[in-house]
Amino acid sequence: MTDIFSIHGKVALVTGGGSGIGWMIAEAYVRAGARVYIASRKKEELEARIAELAGEGEGSCSAIVADLSTEAGCNALGDEIESREGSLDILVNNAGANWGAPYEEFPESAWDRVLNVNVKGVFQLTRRLTPLLEKAASDEDPARVINVGSIDGIGAPDLETYSYSASKAAVHHLTAVLAKKLARKKITVNAIAPGPFQSRMMKATLERAGDAINDMVPLSRIGSPEDMAGITIFLASRAGAYLTATVIPIDGGISGTR
Ligand SMILES: NC(=O)c1ccc[n+]([C@@H]2O[C@H](COP(=O)([O-])OP(=O)(O)OC[C@H]3O[C@@H](n4cnc5c(N)ncnc54)[C@H](OP(=O)(O)O)[C@@H]3O)[C@@H](O)[C@H]2O)c1
Repeated sequence: MTDIFSIHGKVALVTGGGSGIGWMIAEAYVRAGARVYIASRKKEELEARIAELAGEGEGSCSAIVADLSTEAGCNALGDEIESREGSLDILVNNAGANWGAPYEEFPESAWDRVLNVNVKGVFQLTRRLTPLLEKAASDEDPARVINVGSIDGIGAPDLETYSYSASKAAVHHLTAVLAKKLARKKITVNAIAPGPFQSRMMKATLERAGDAINDMVPLSRIGSPEDMAGITIFLASRAGAYLTATVIPIDGGISGTR
């Protein structure tokens, strides 16, 4: 029973792992003894994060530069992982983009930009890595895909982020579709739907309206790195092996009470 939450020795890829929620997950996995790859566009940010850890934790962390807004970028990341690892236990599709603009002015480019990374990229990368995930999968310990959705994909947000909230609802539905497709390959696919967490994407909003956001959360605070570590270690470990096609809010009670 003591090992039921262990991810020691597992191989994980966390997209967008150099900042915000992605780094919360990557750092937790490294500290829990996993071999972790973090991937996004900014090499310096990825390397700075890895330097911060300075060998702490029982696992390891490596950086791969990748642009996940195109099929070519997703395939290149898949190729690179395949050249380094014989199998992949955990894929965390966390990379995401957001755009805010008034209804009357919301640009077409904000649909392409957001949907390319948040939805198309999740599909392309998962498909490219399916053979490698399959190699890590067994009945008792399936390979895991964890998609990062949002409470904005569950309920309508106040902010004018039209393509973002639609993209996150799409991530939740794609999670169920992929779970159905990949269950026979012993790959589970679940989504988490975070409420507010500190990140680059949330920085301006939290600086402008941090107190109001805390008041809006039934548990009266934004999420912490430990909150993110808890749910994503659970989903990656033996403890989470019998879940698939779920969307789990990690939001201090916002989505269940609004
Ligand atoms: N923070 C919150 O409150 C909150 C709430 C609900 C859901 N989320 C979700 O959590 C996830 C992480 O966001 P965050 O809040 O932690 O914001 P963040 O710090 O801005 O992280 C977004 C990450 O995605 C990467 N990324 C963006 N476009 C990319 C591309 N084309 N190719 C590869 N990587 C790309 C970014 O790295 P580069 O720019 O270097 O590529 C960055 O590391 C997102 O899916 C977001 O929608 C966040």
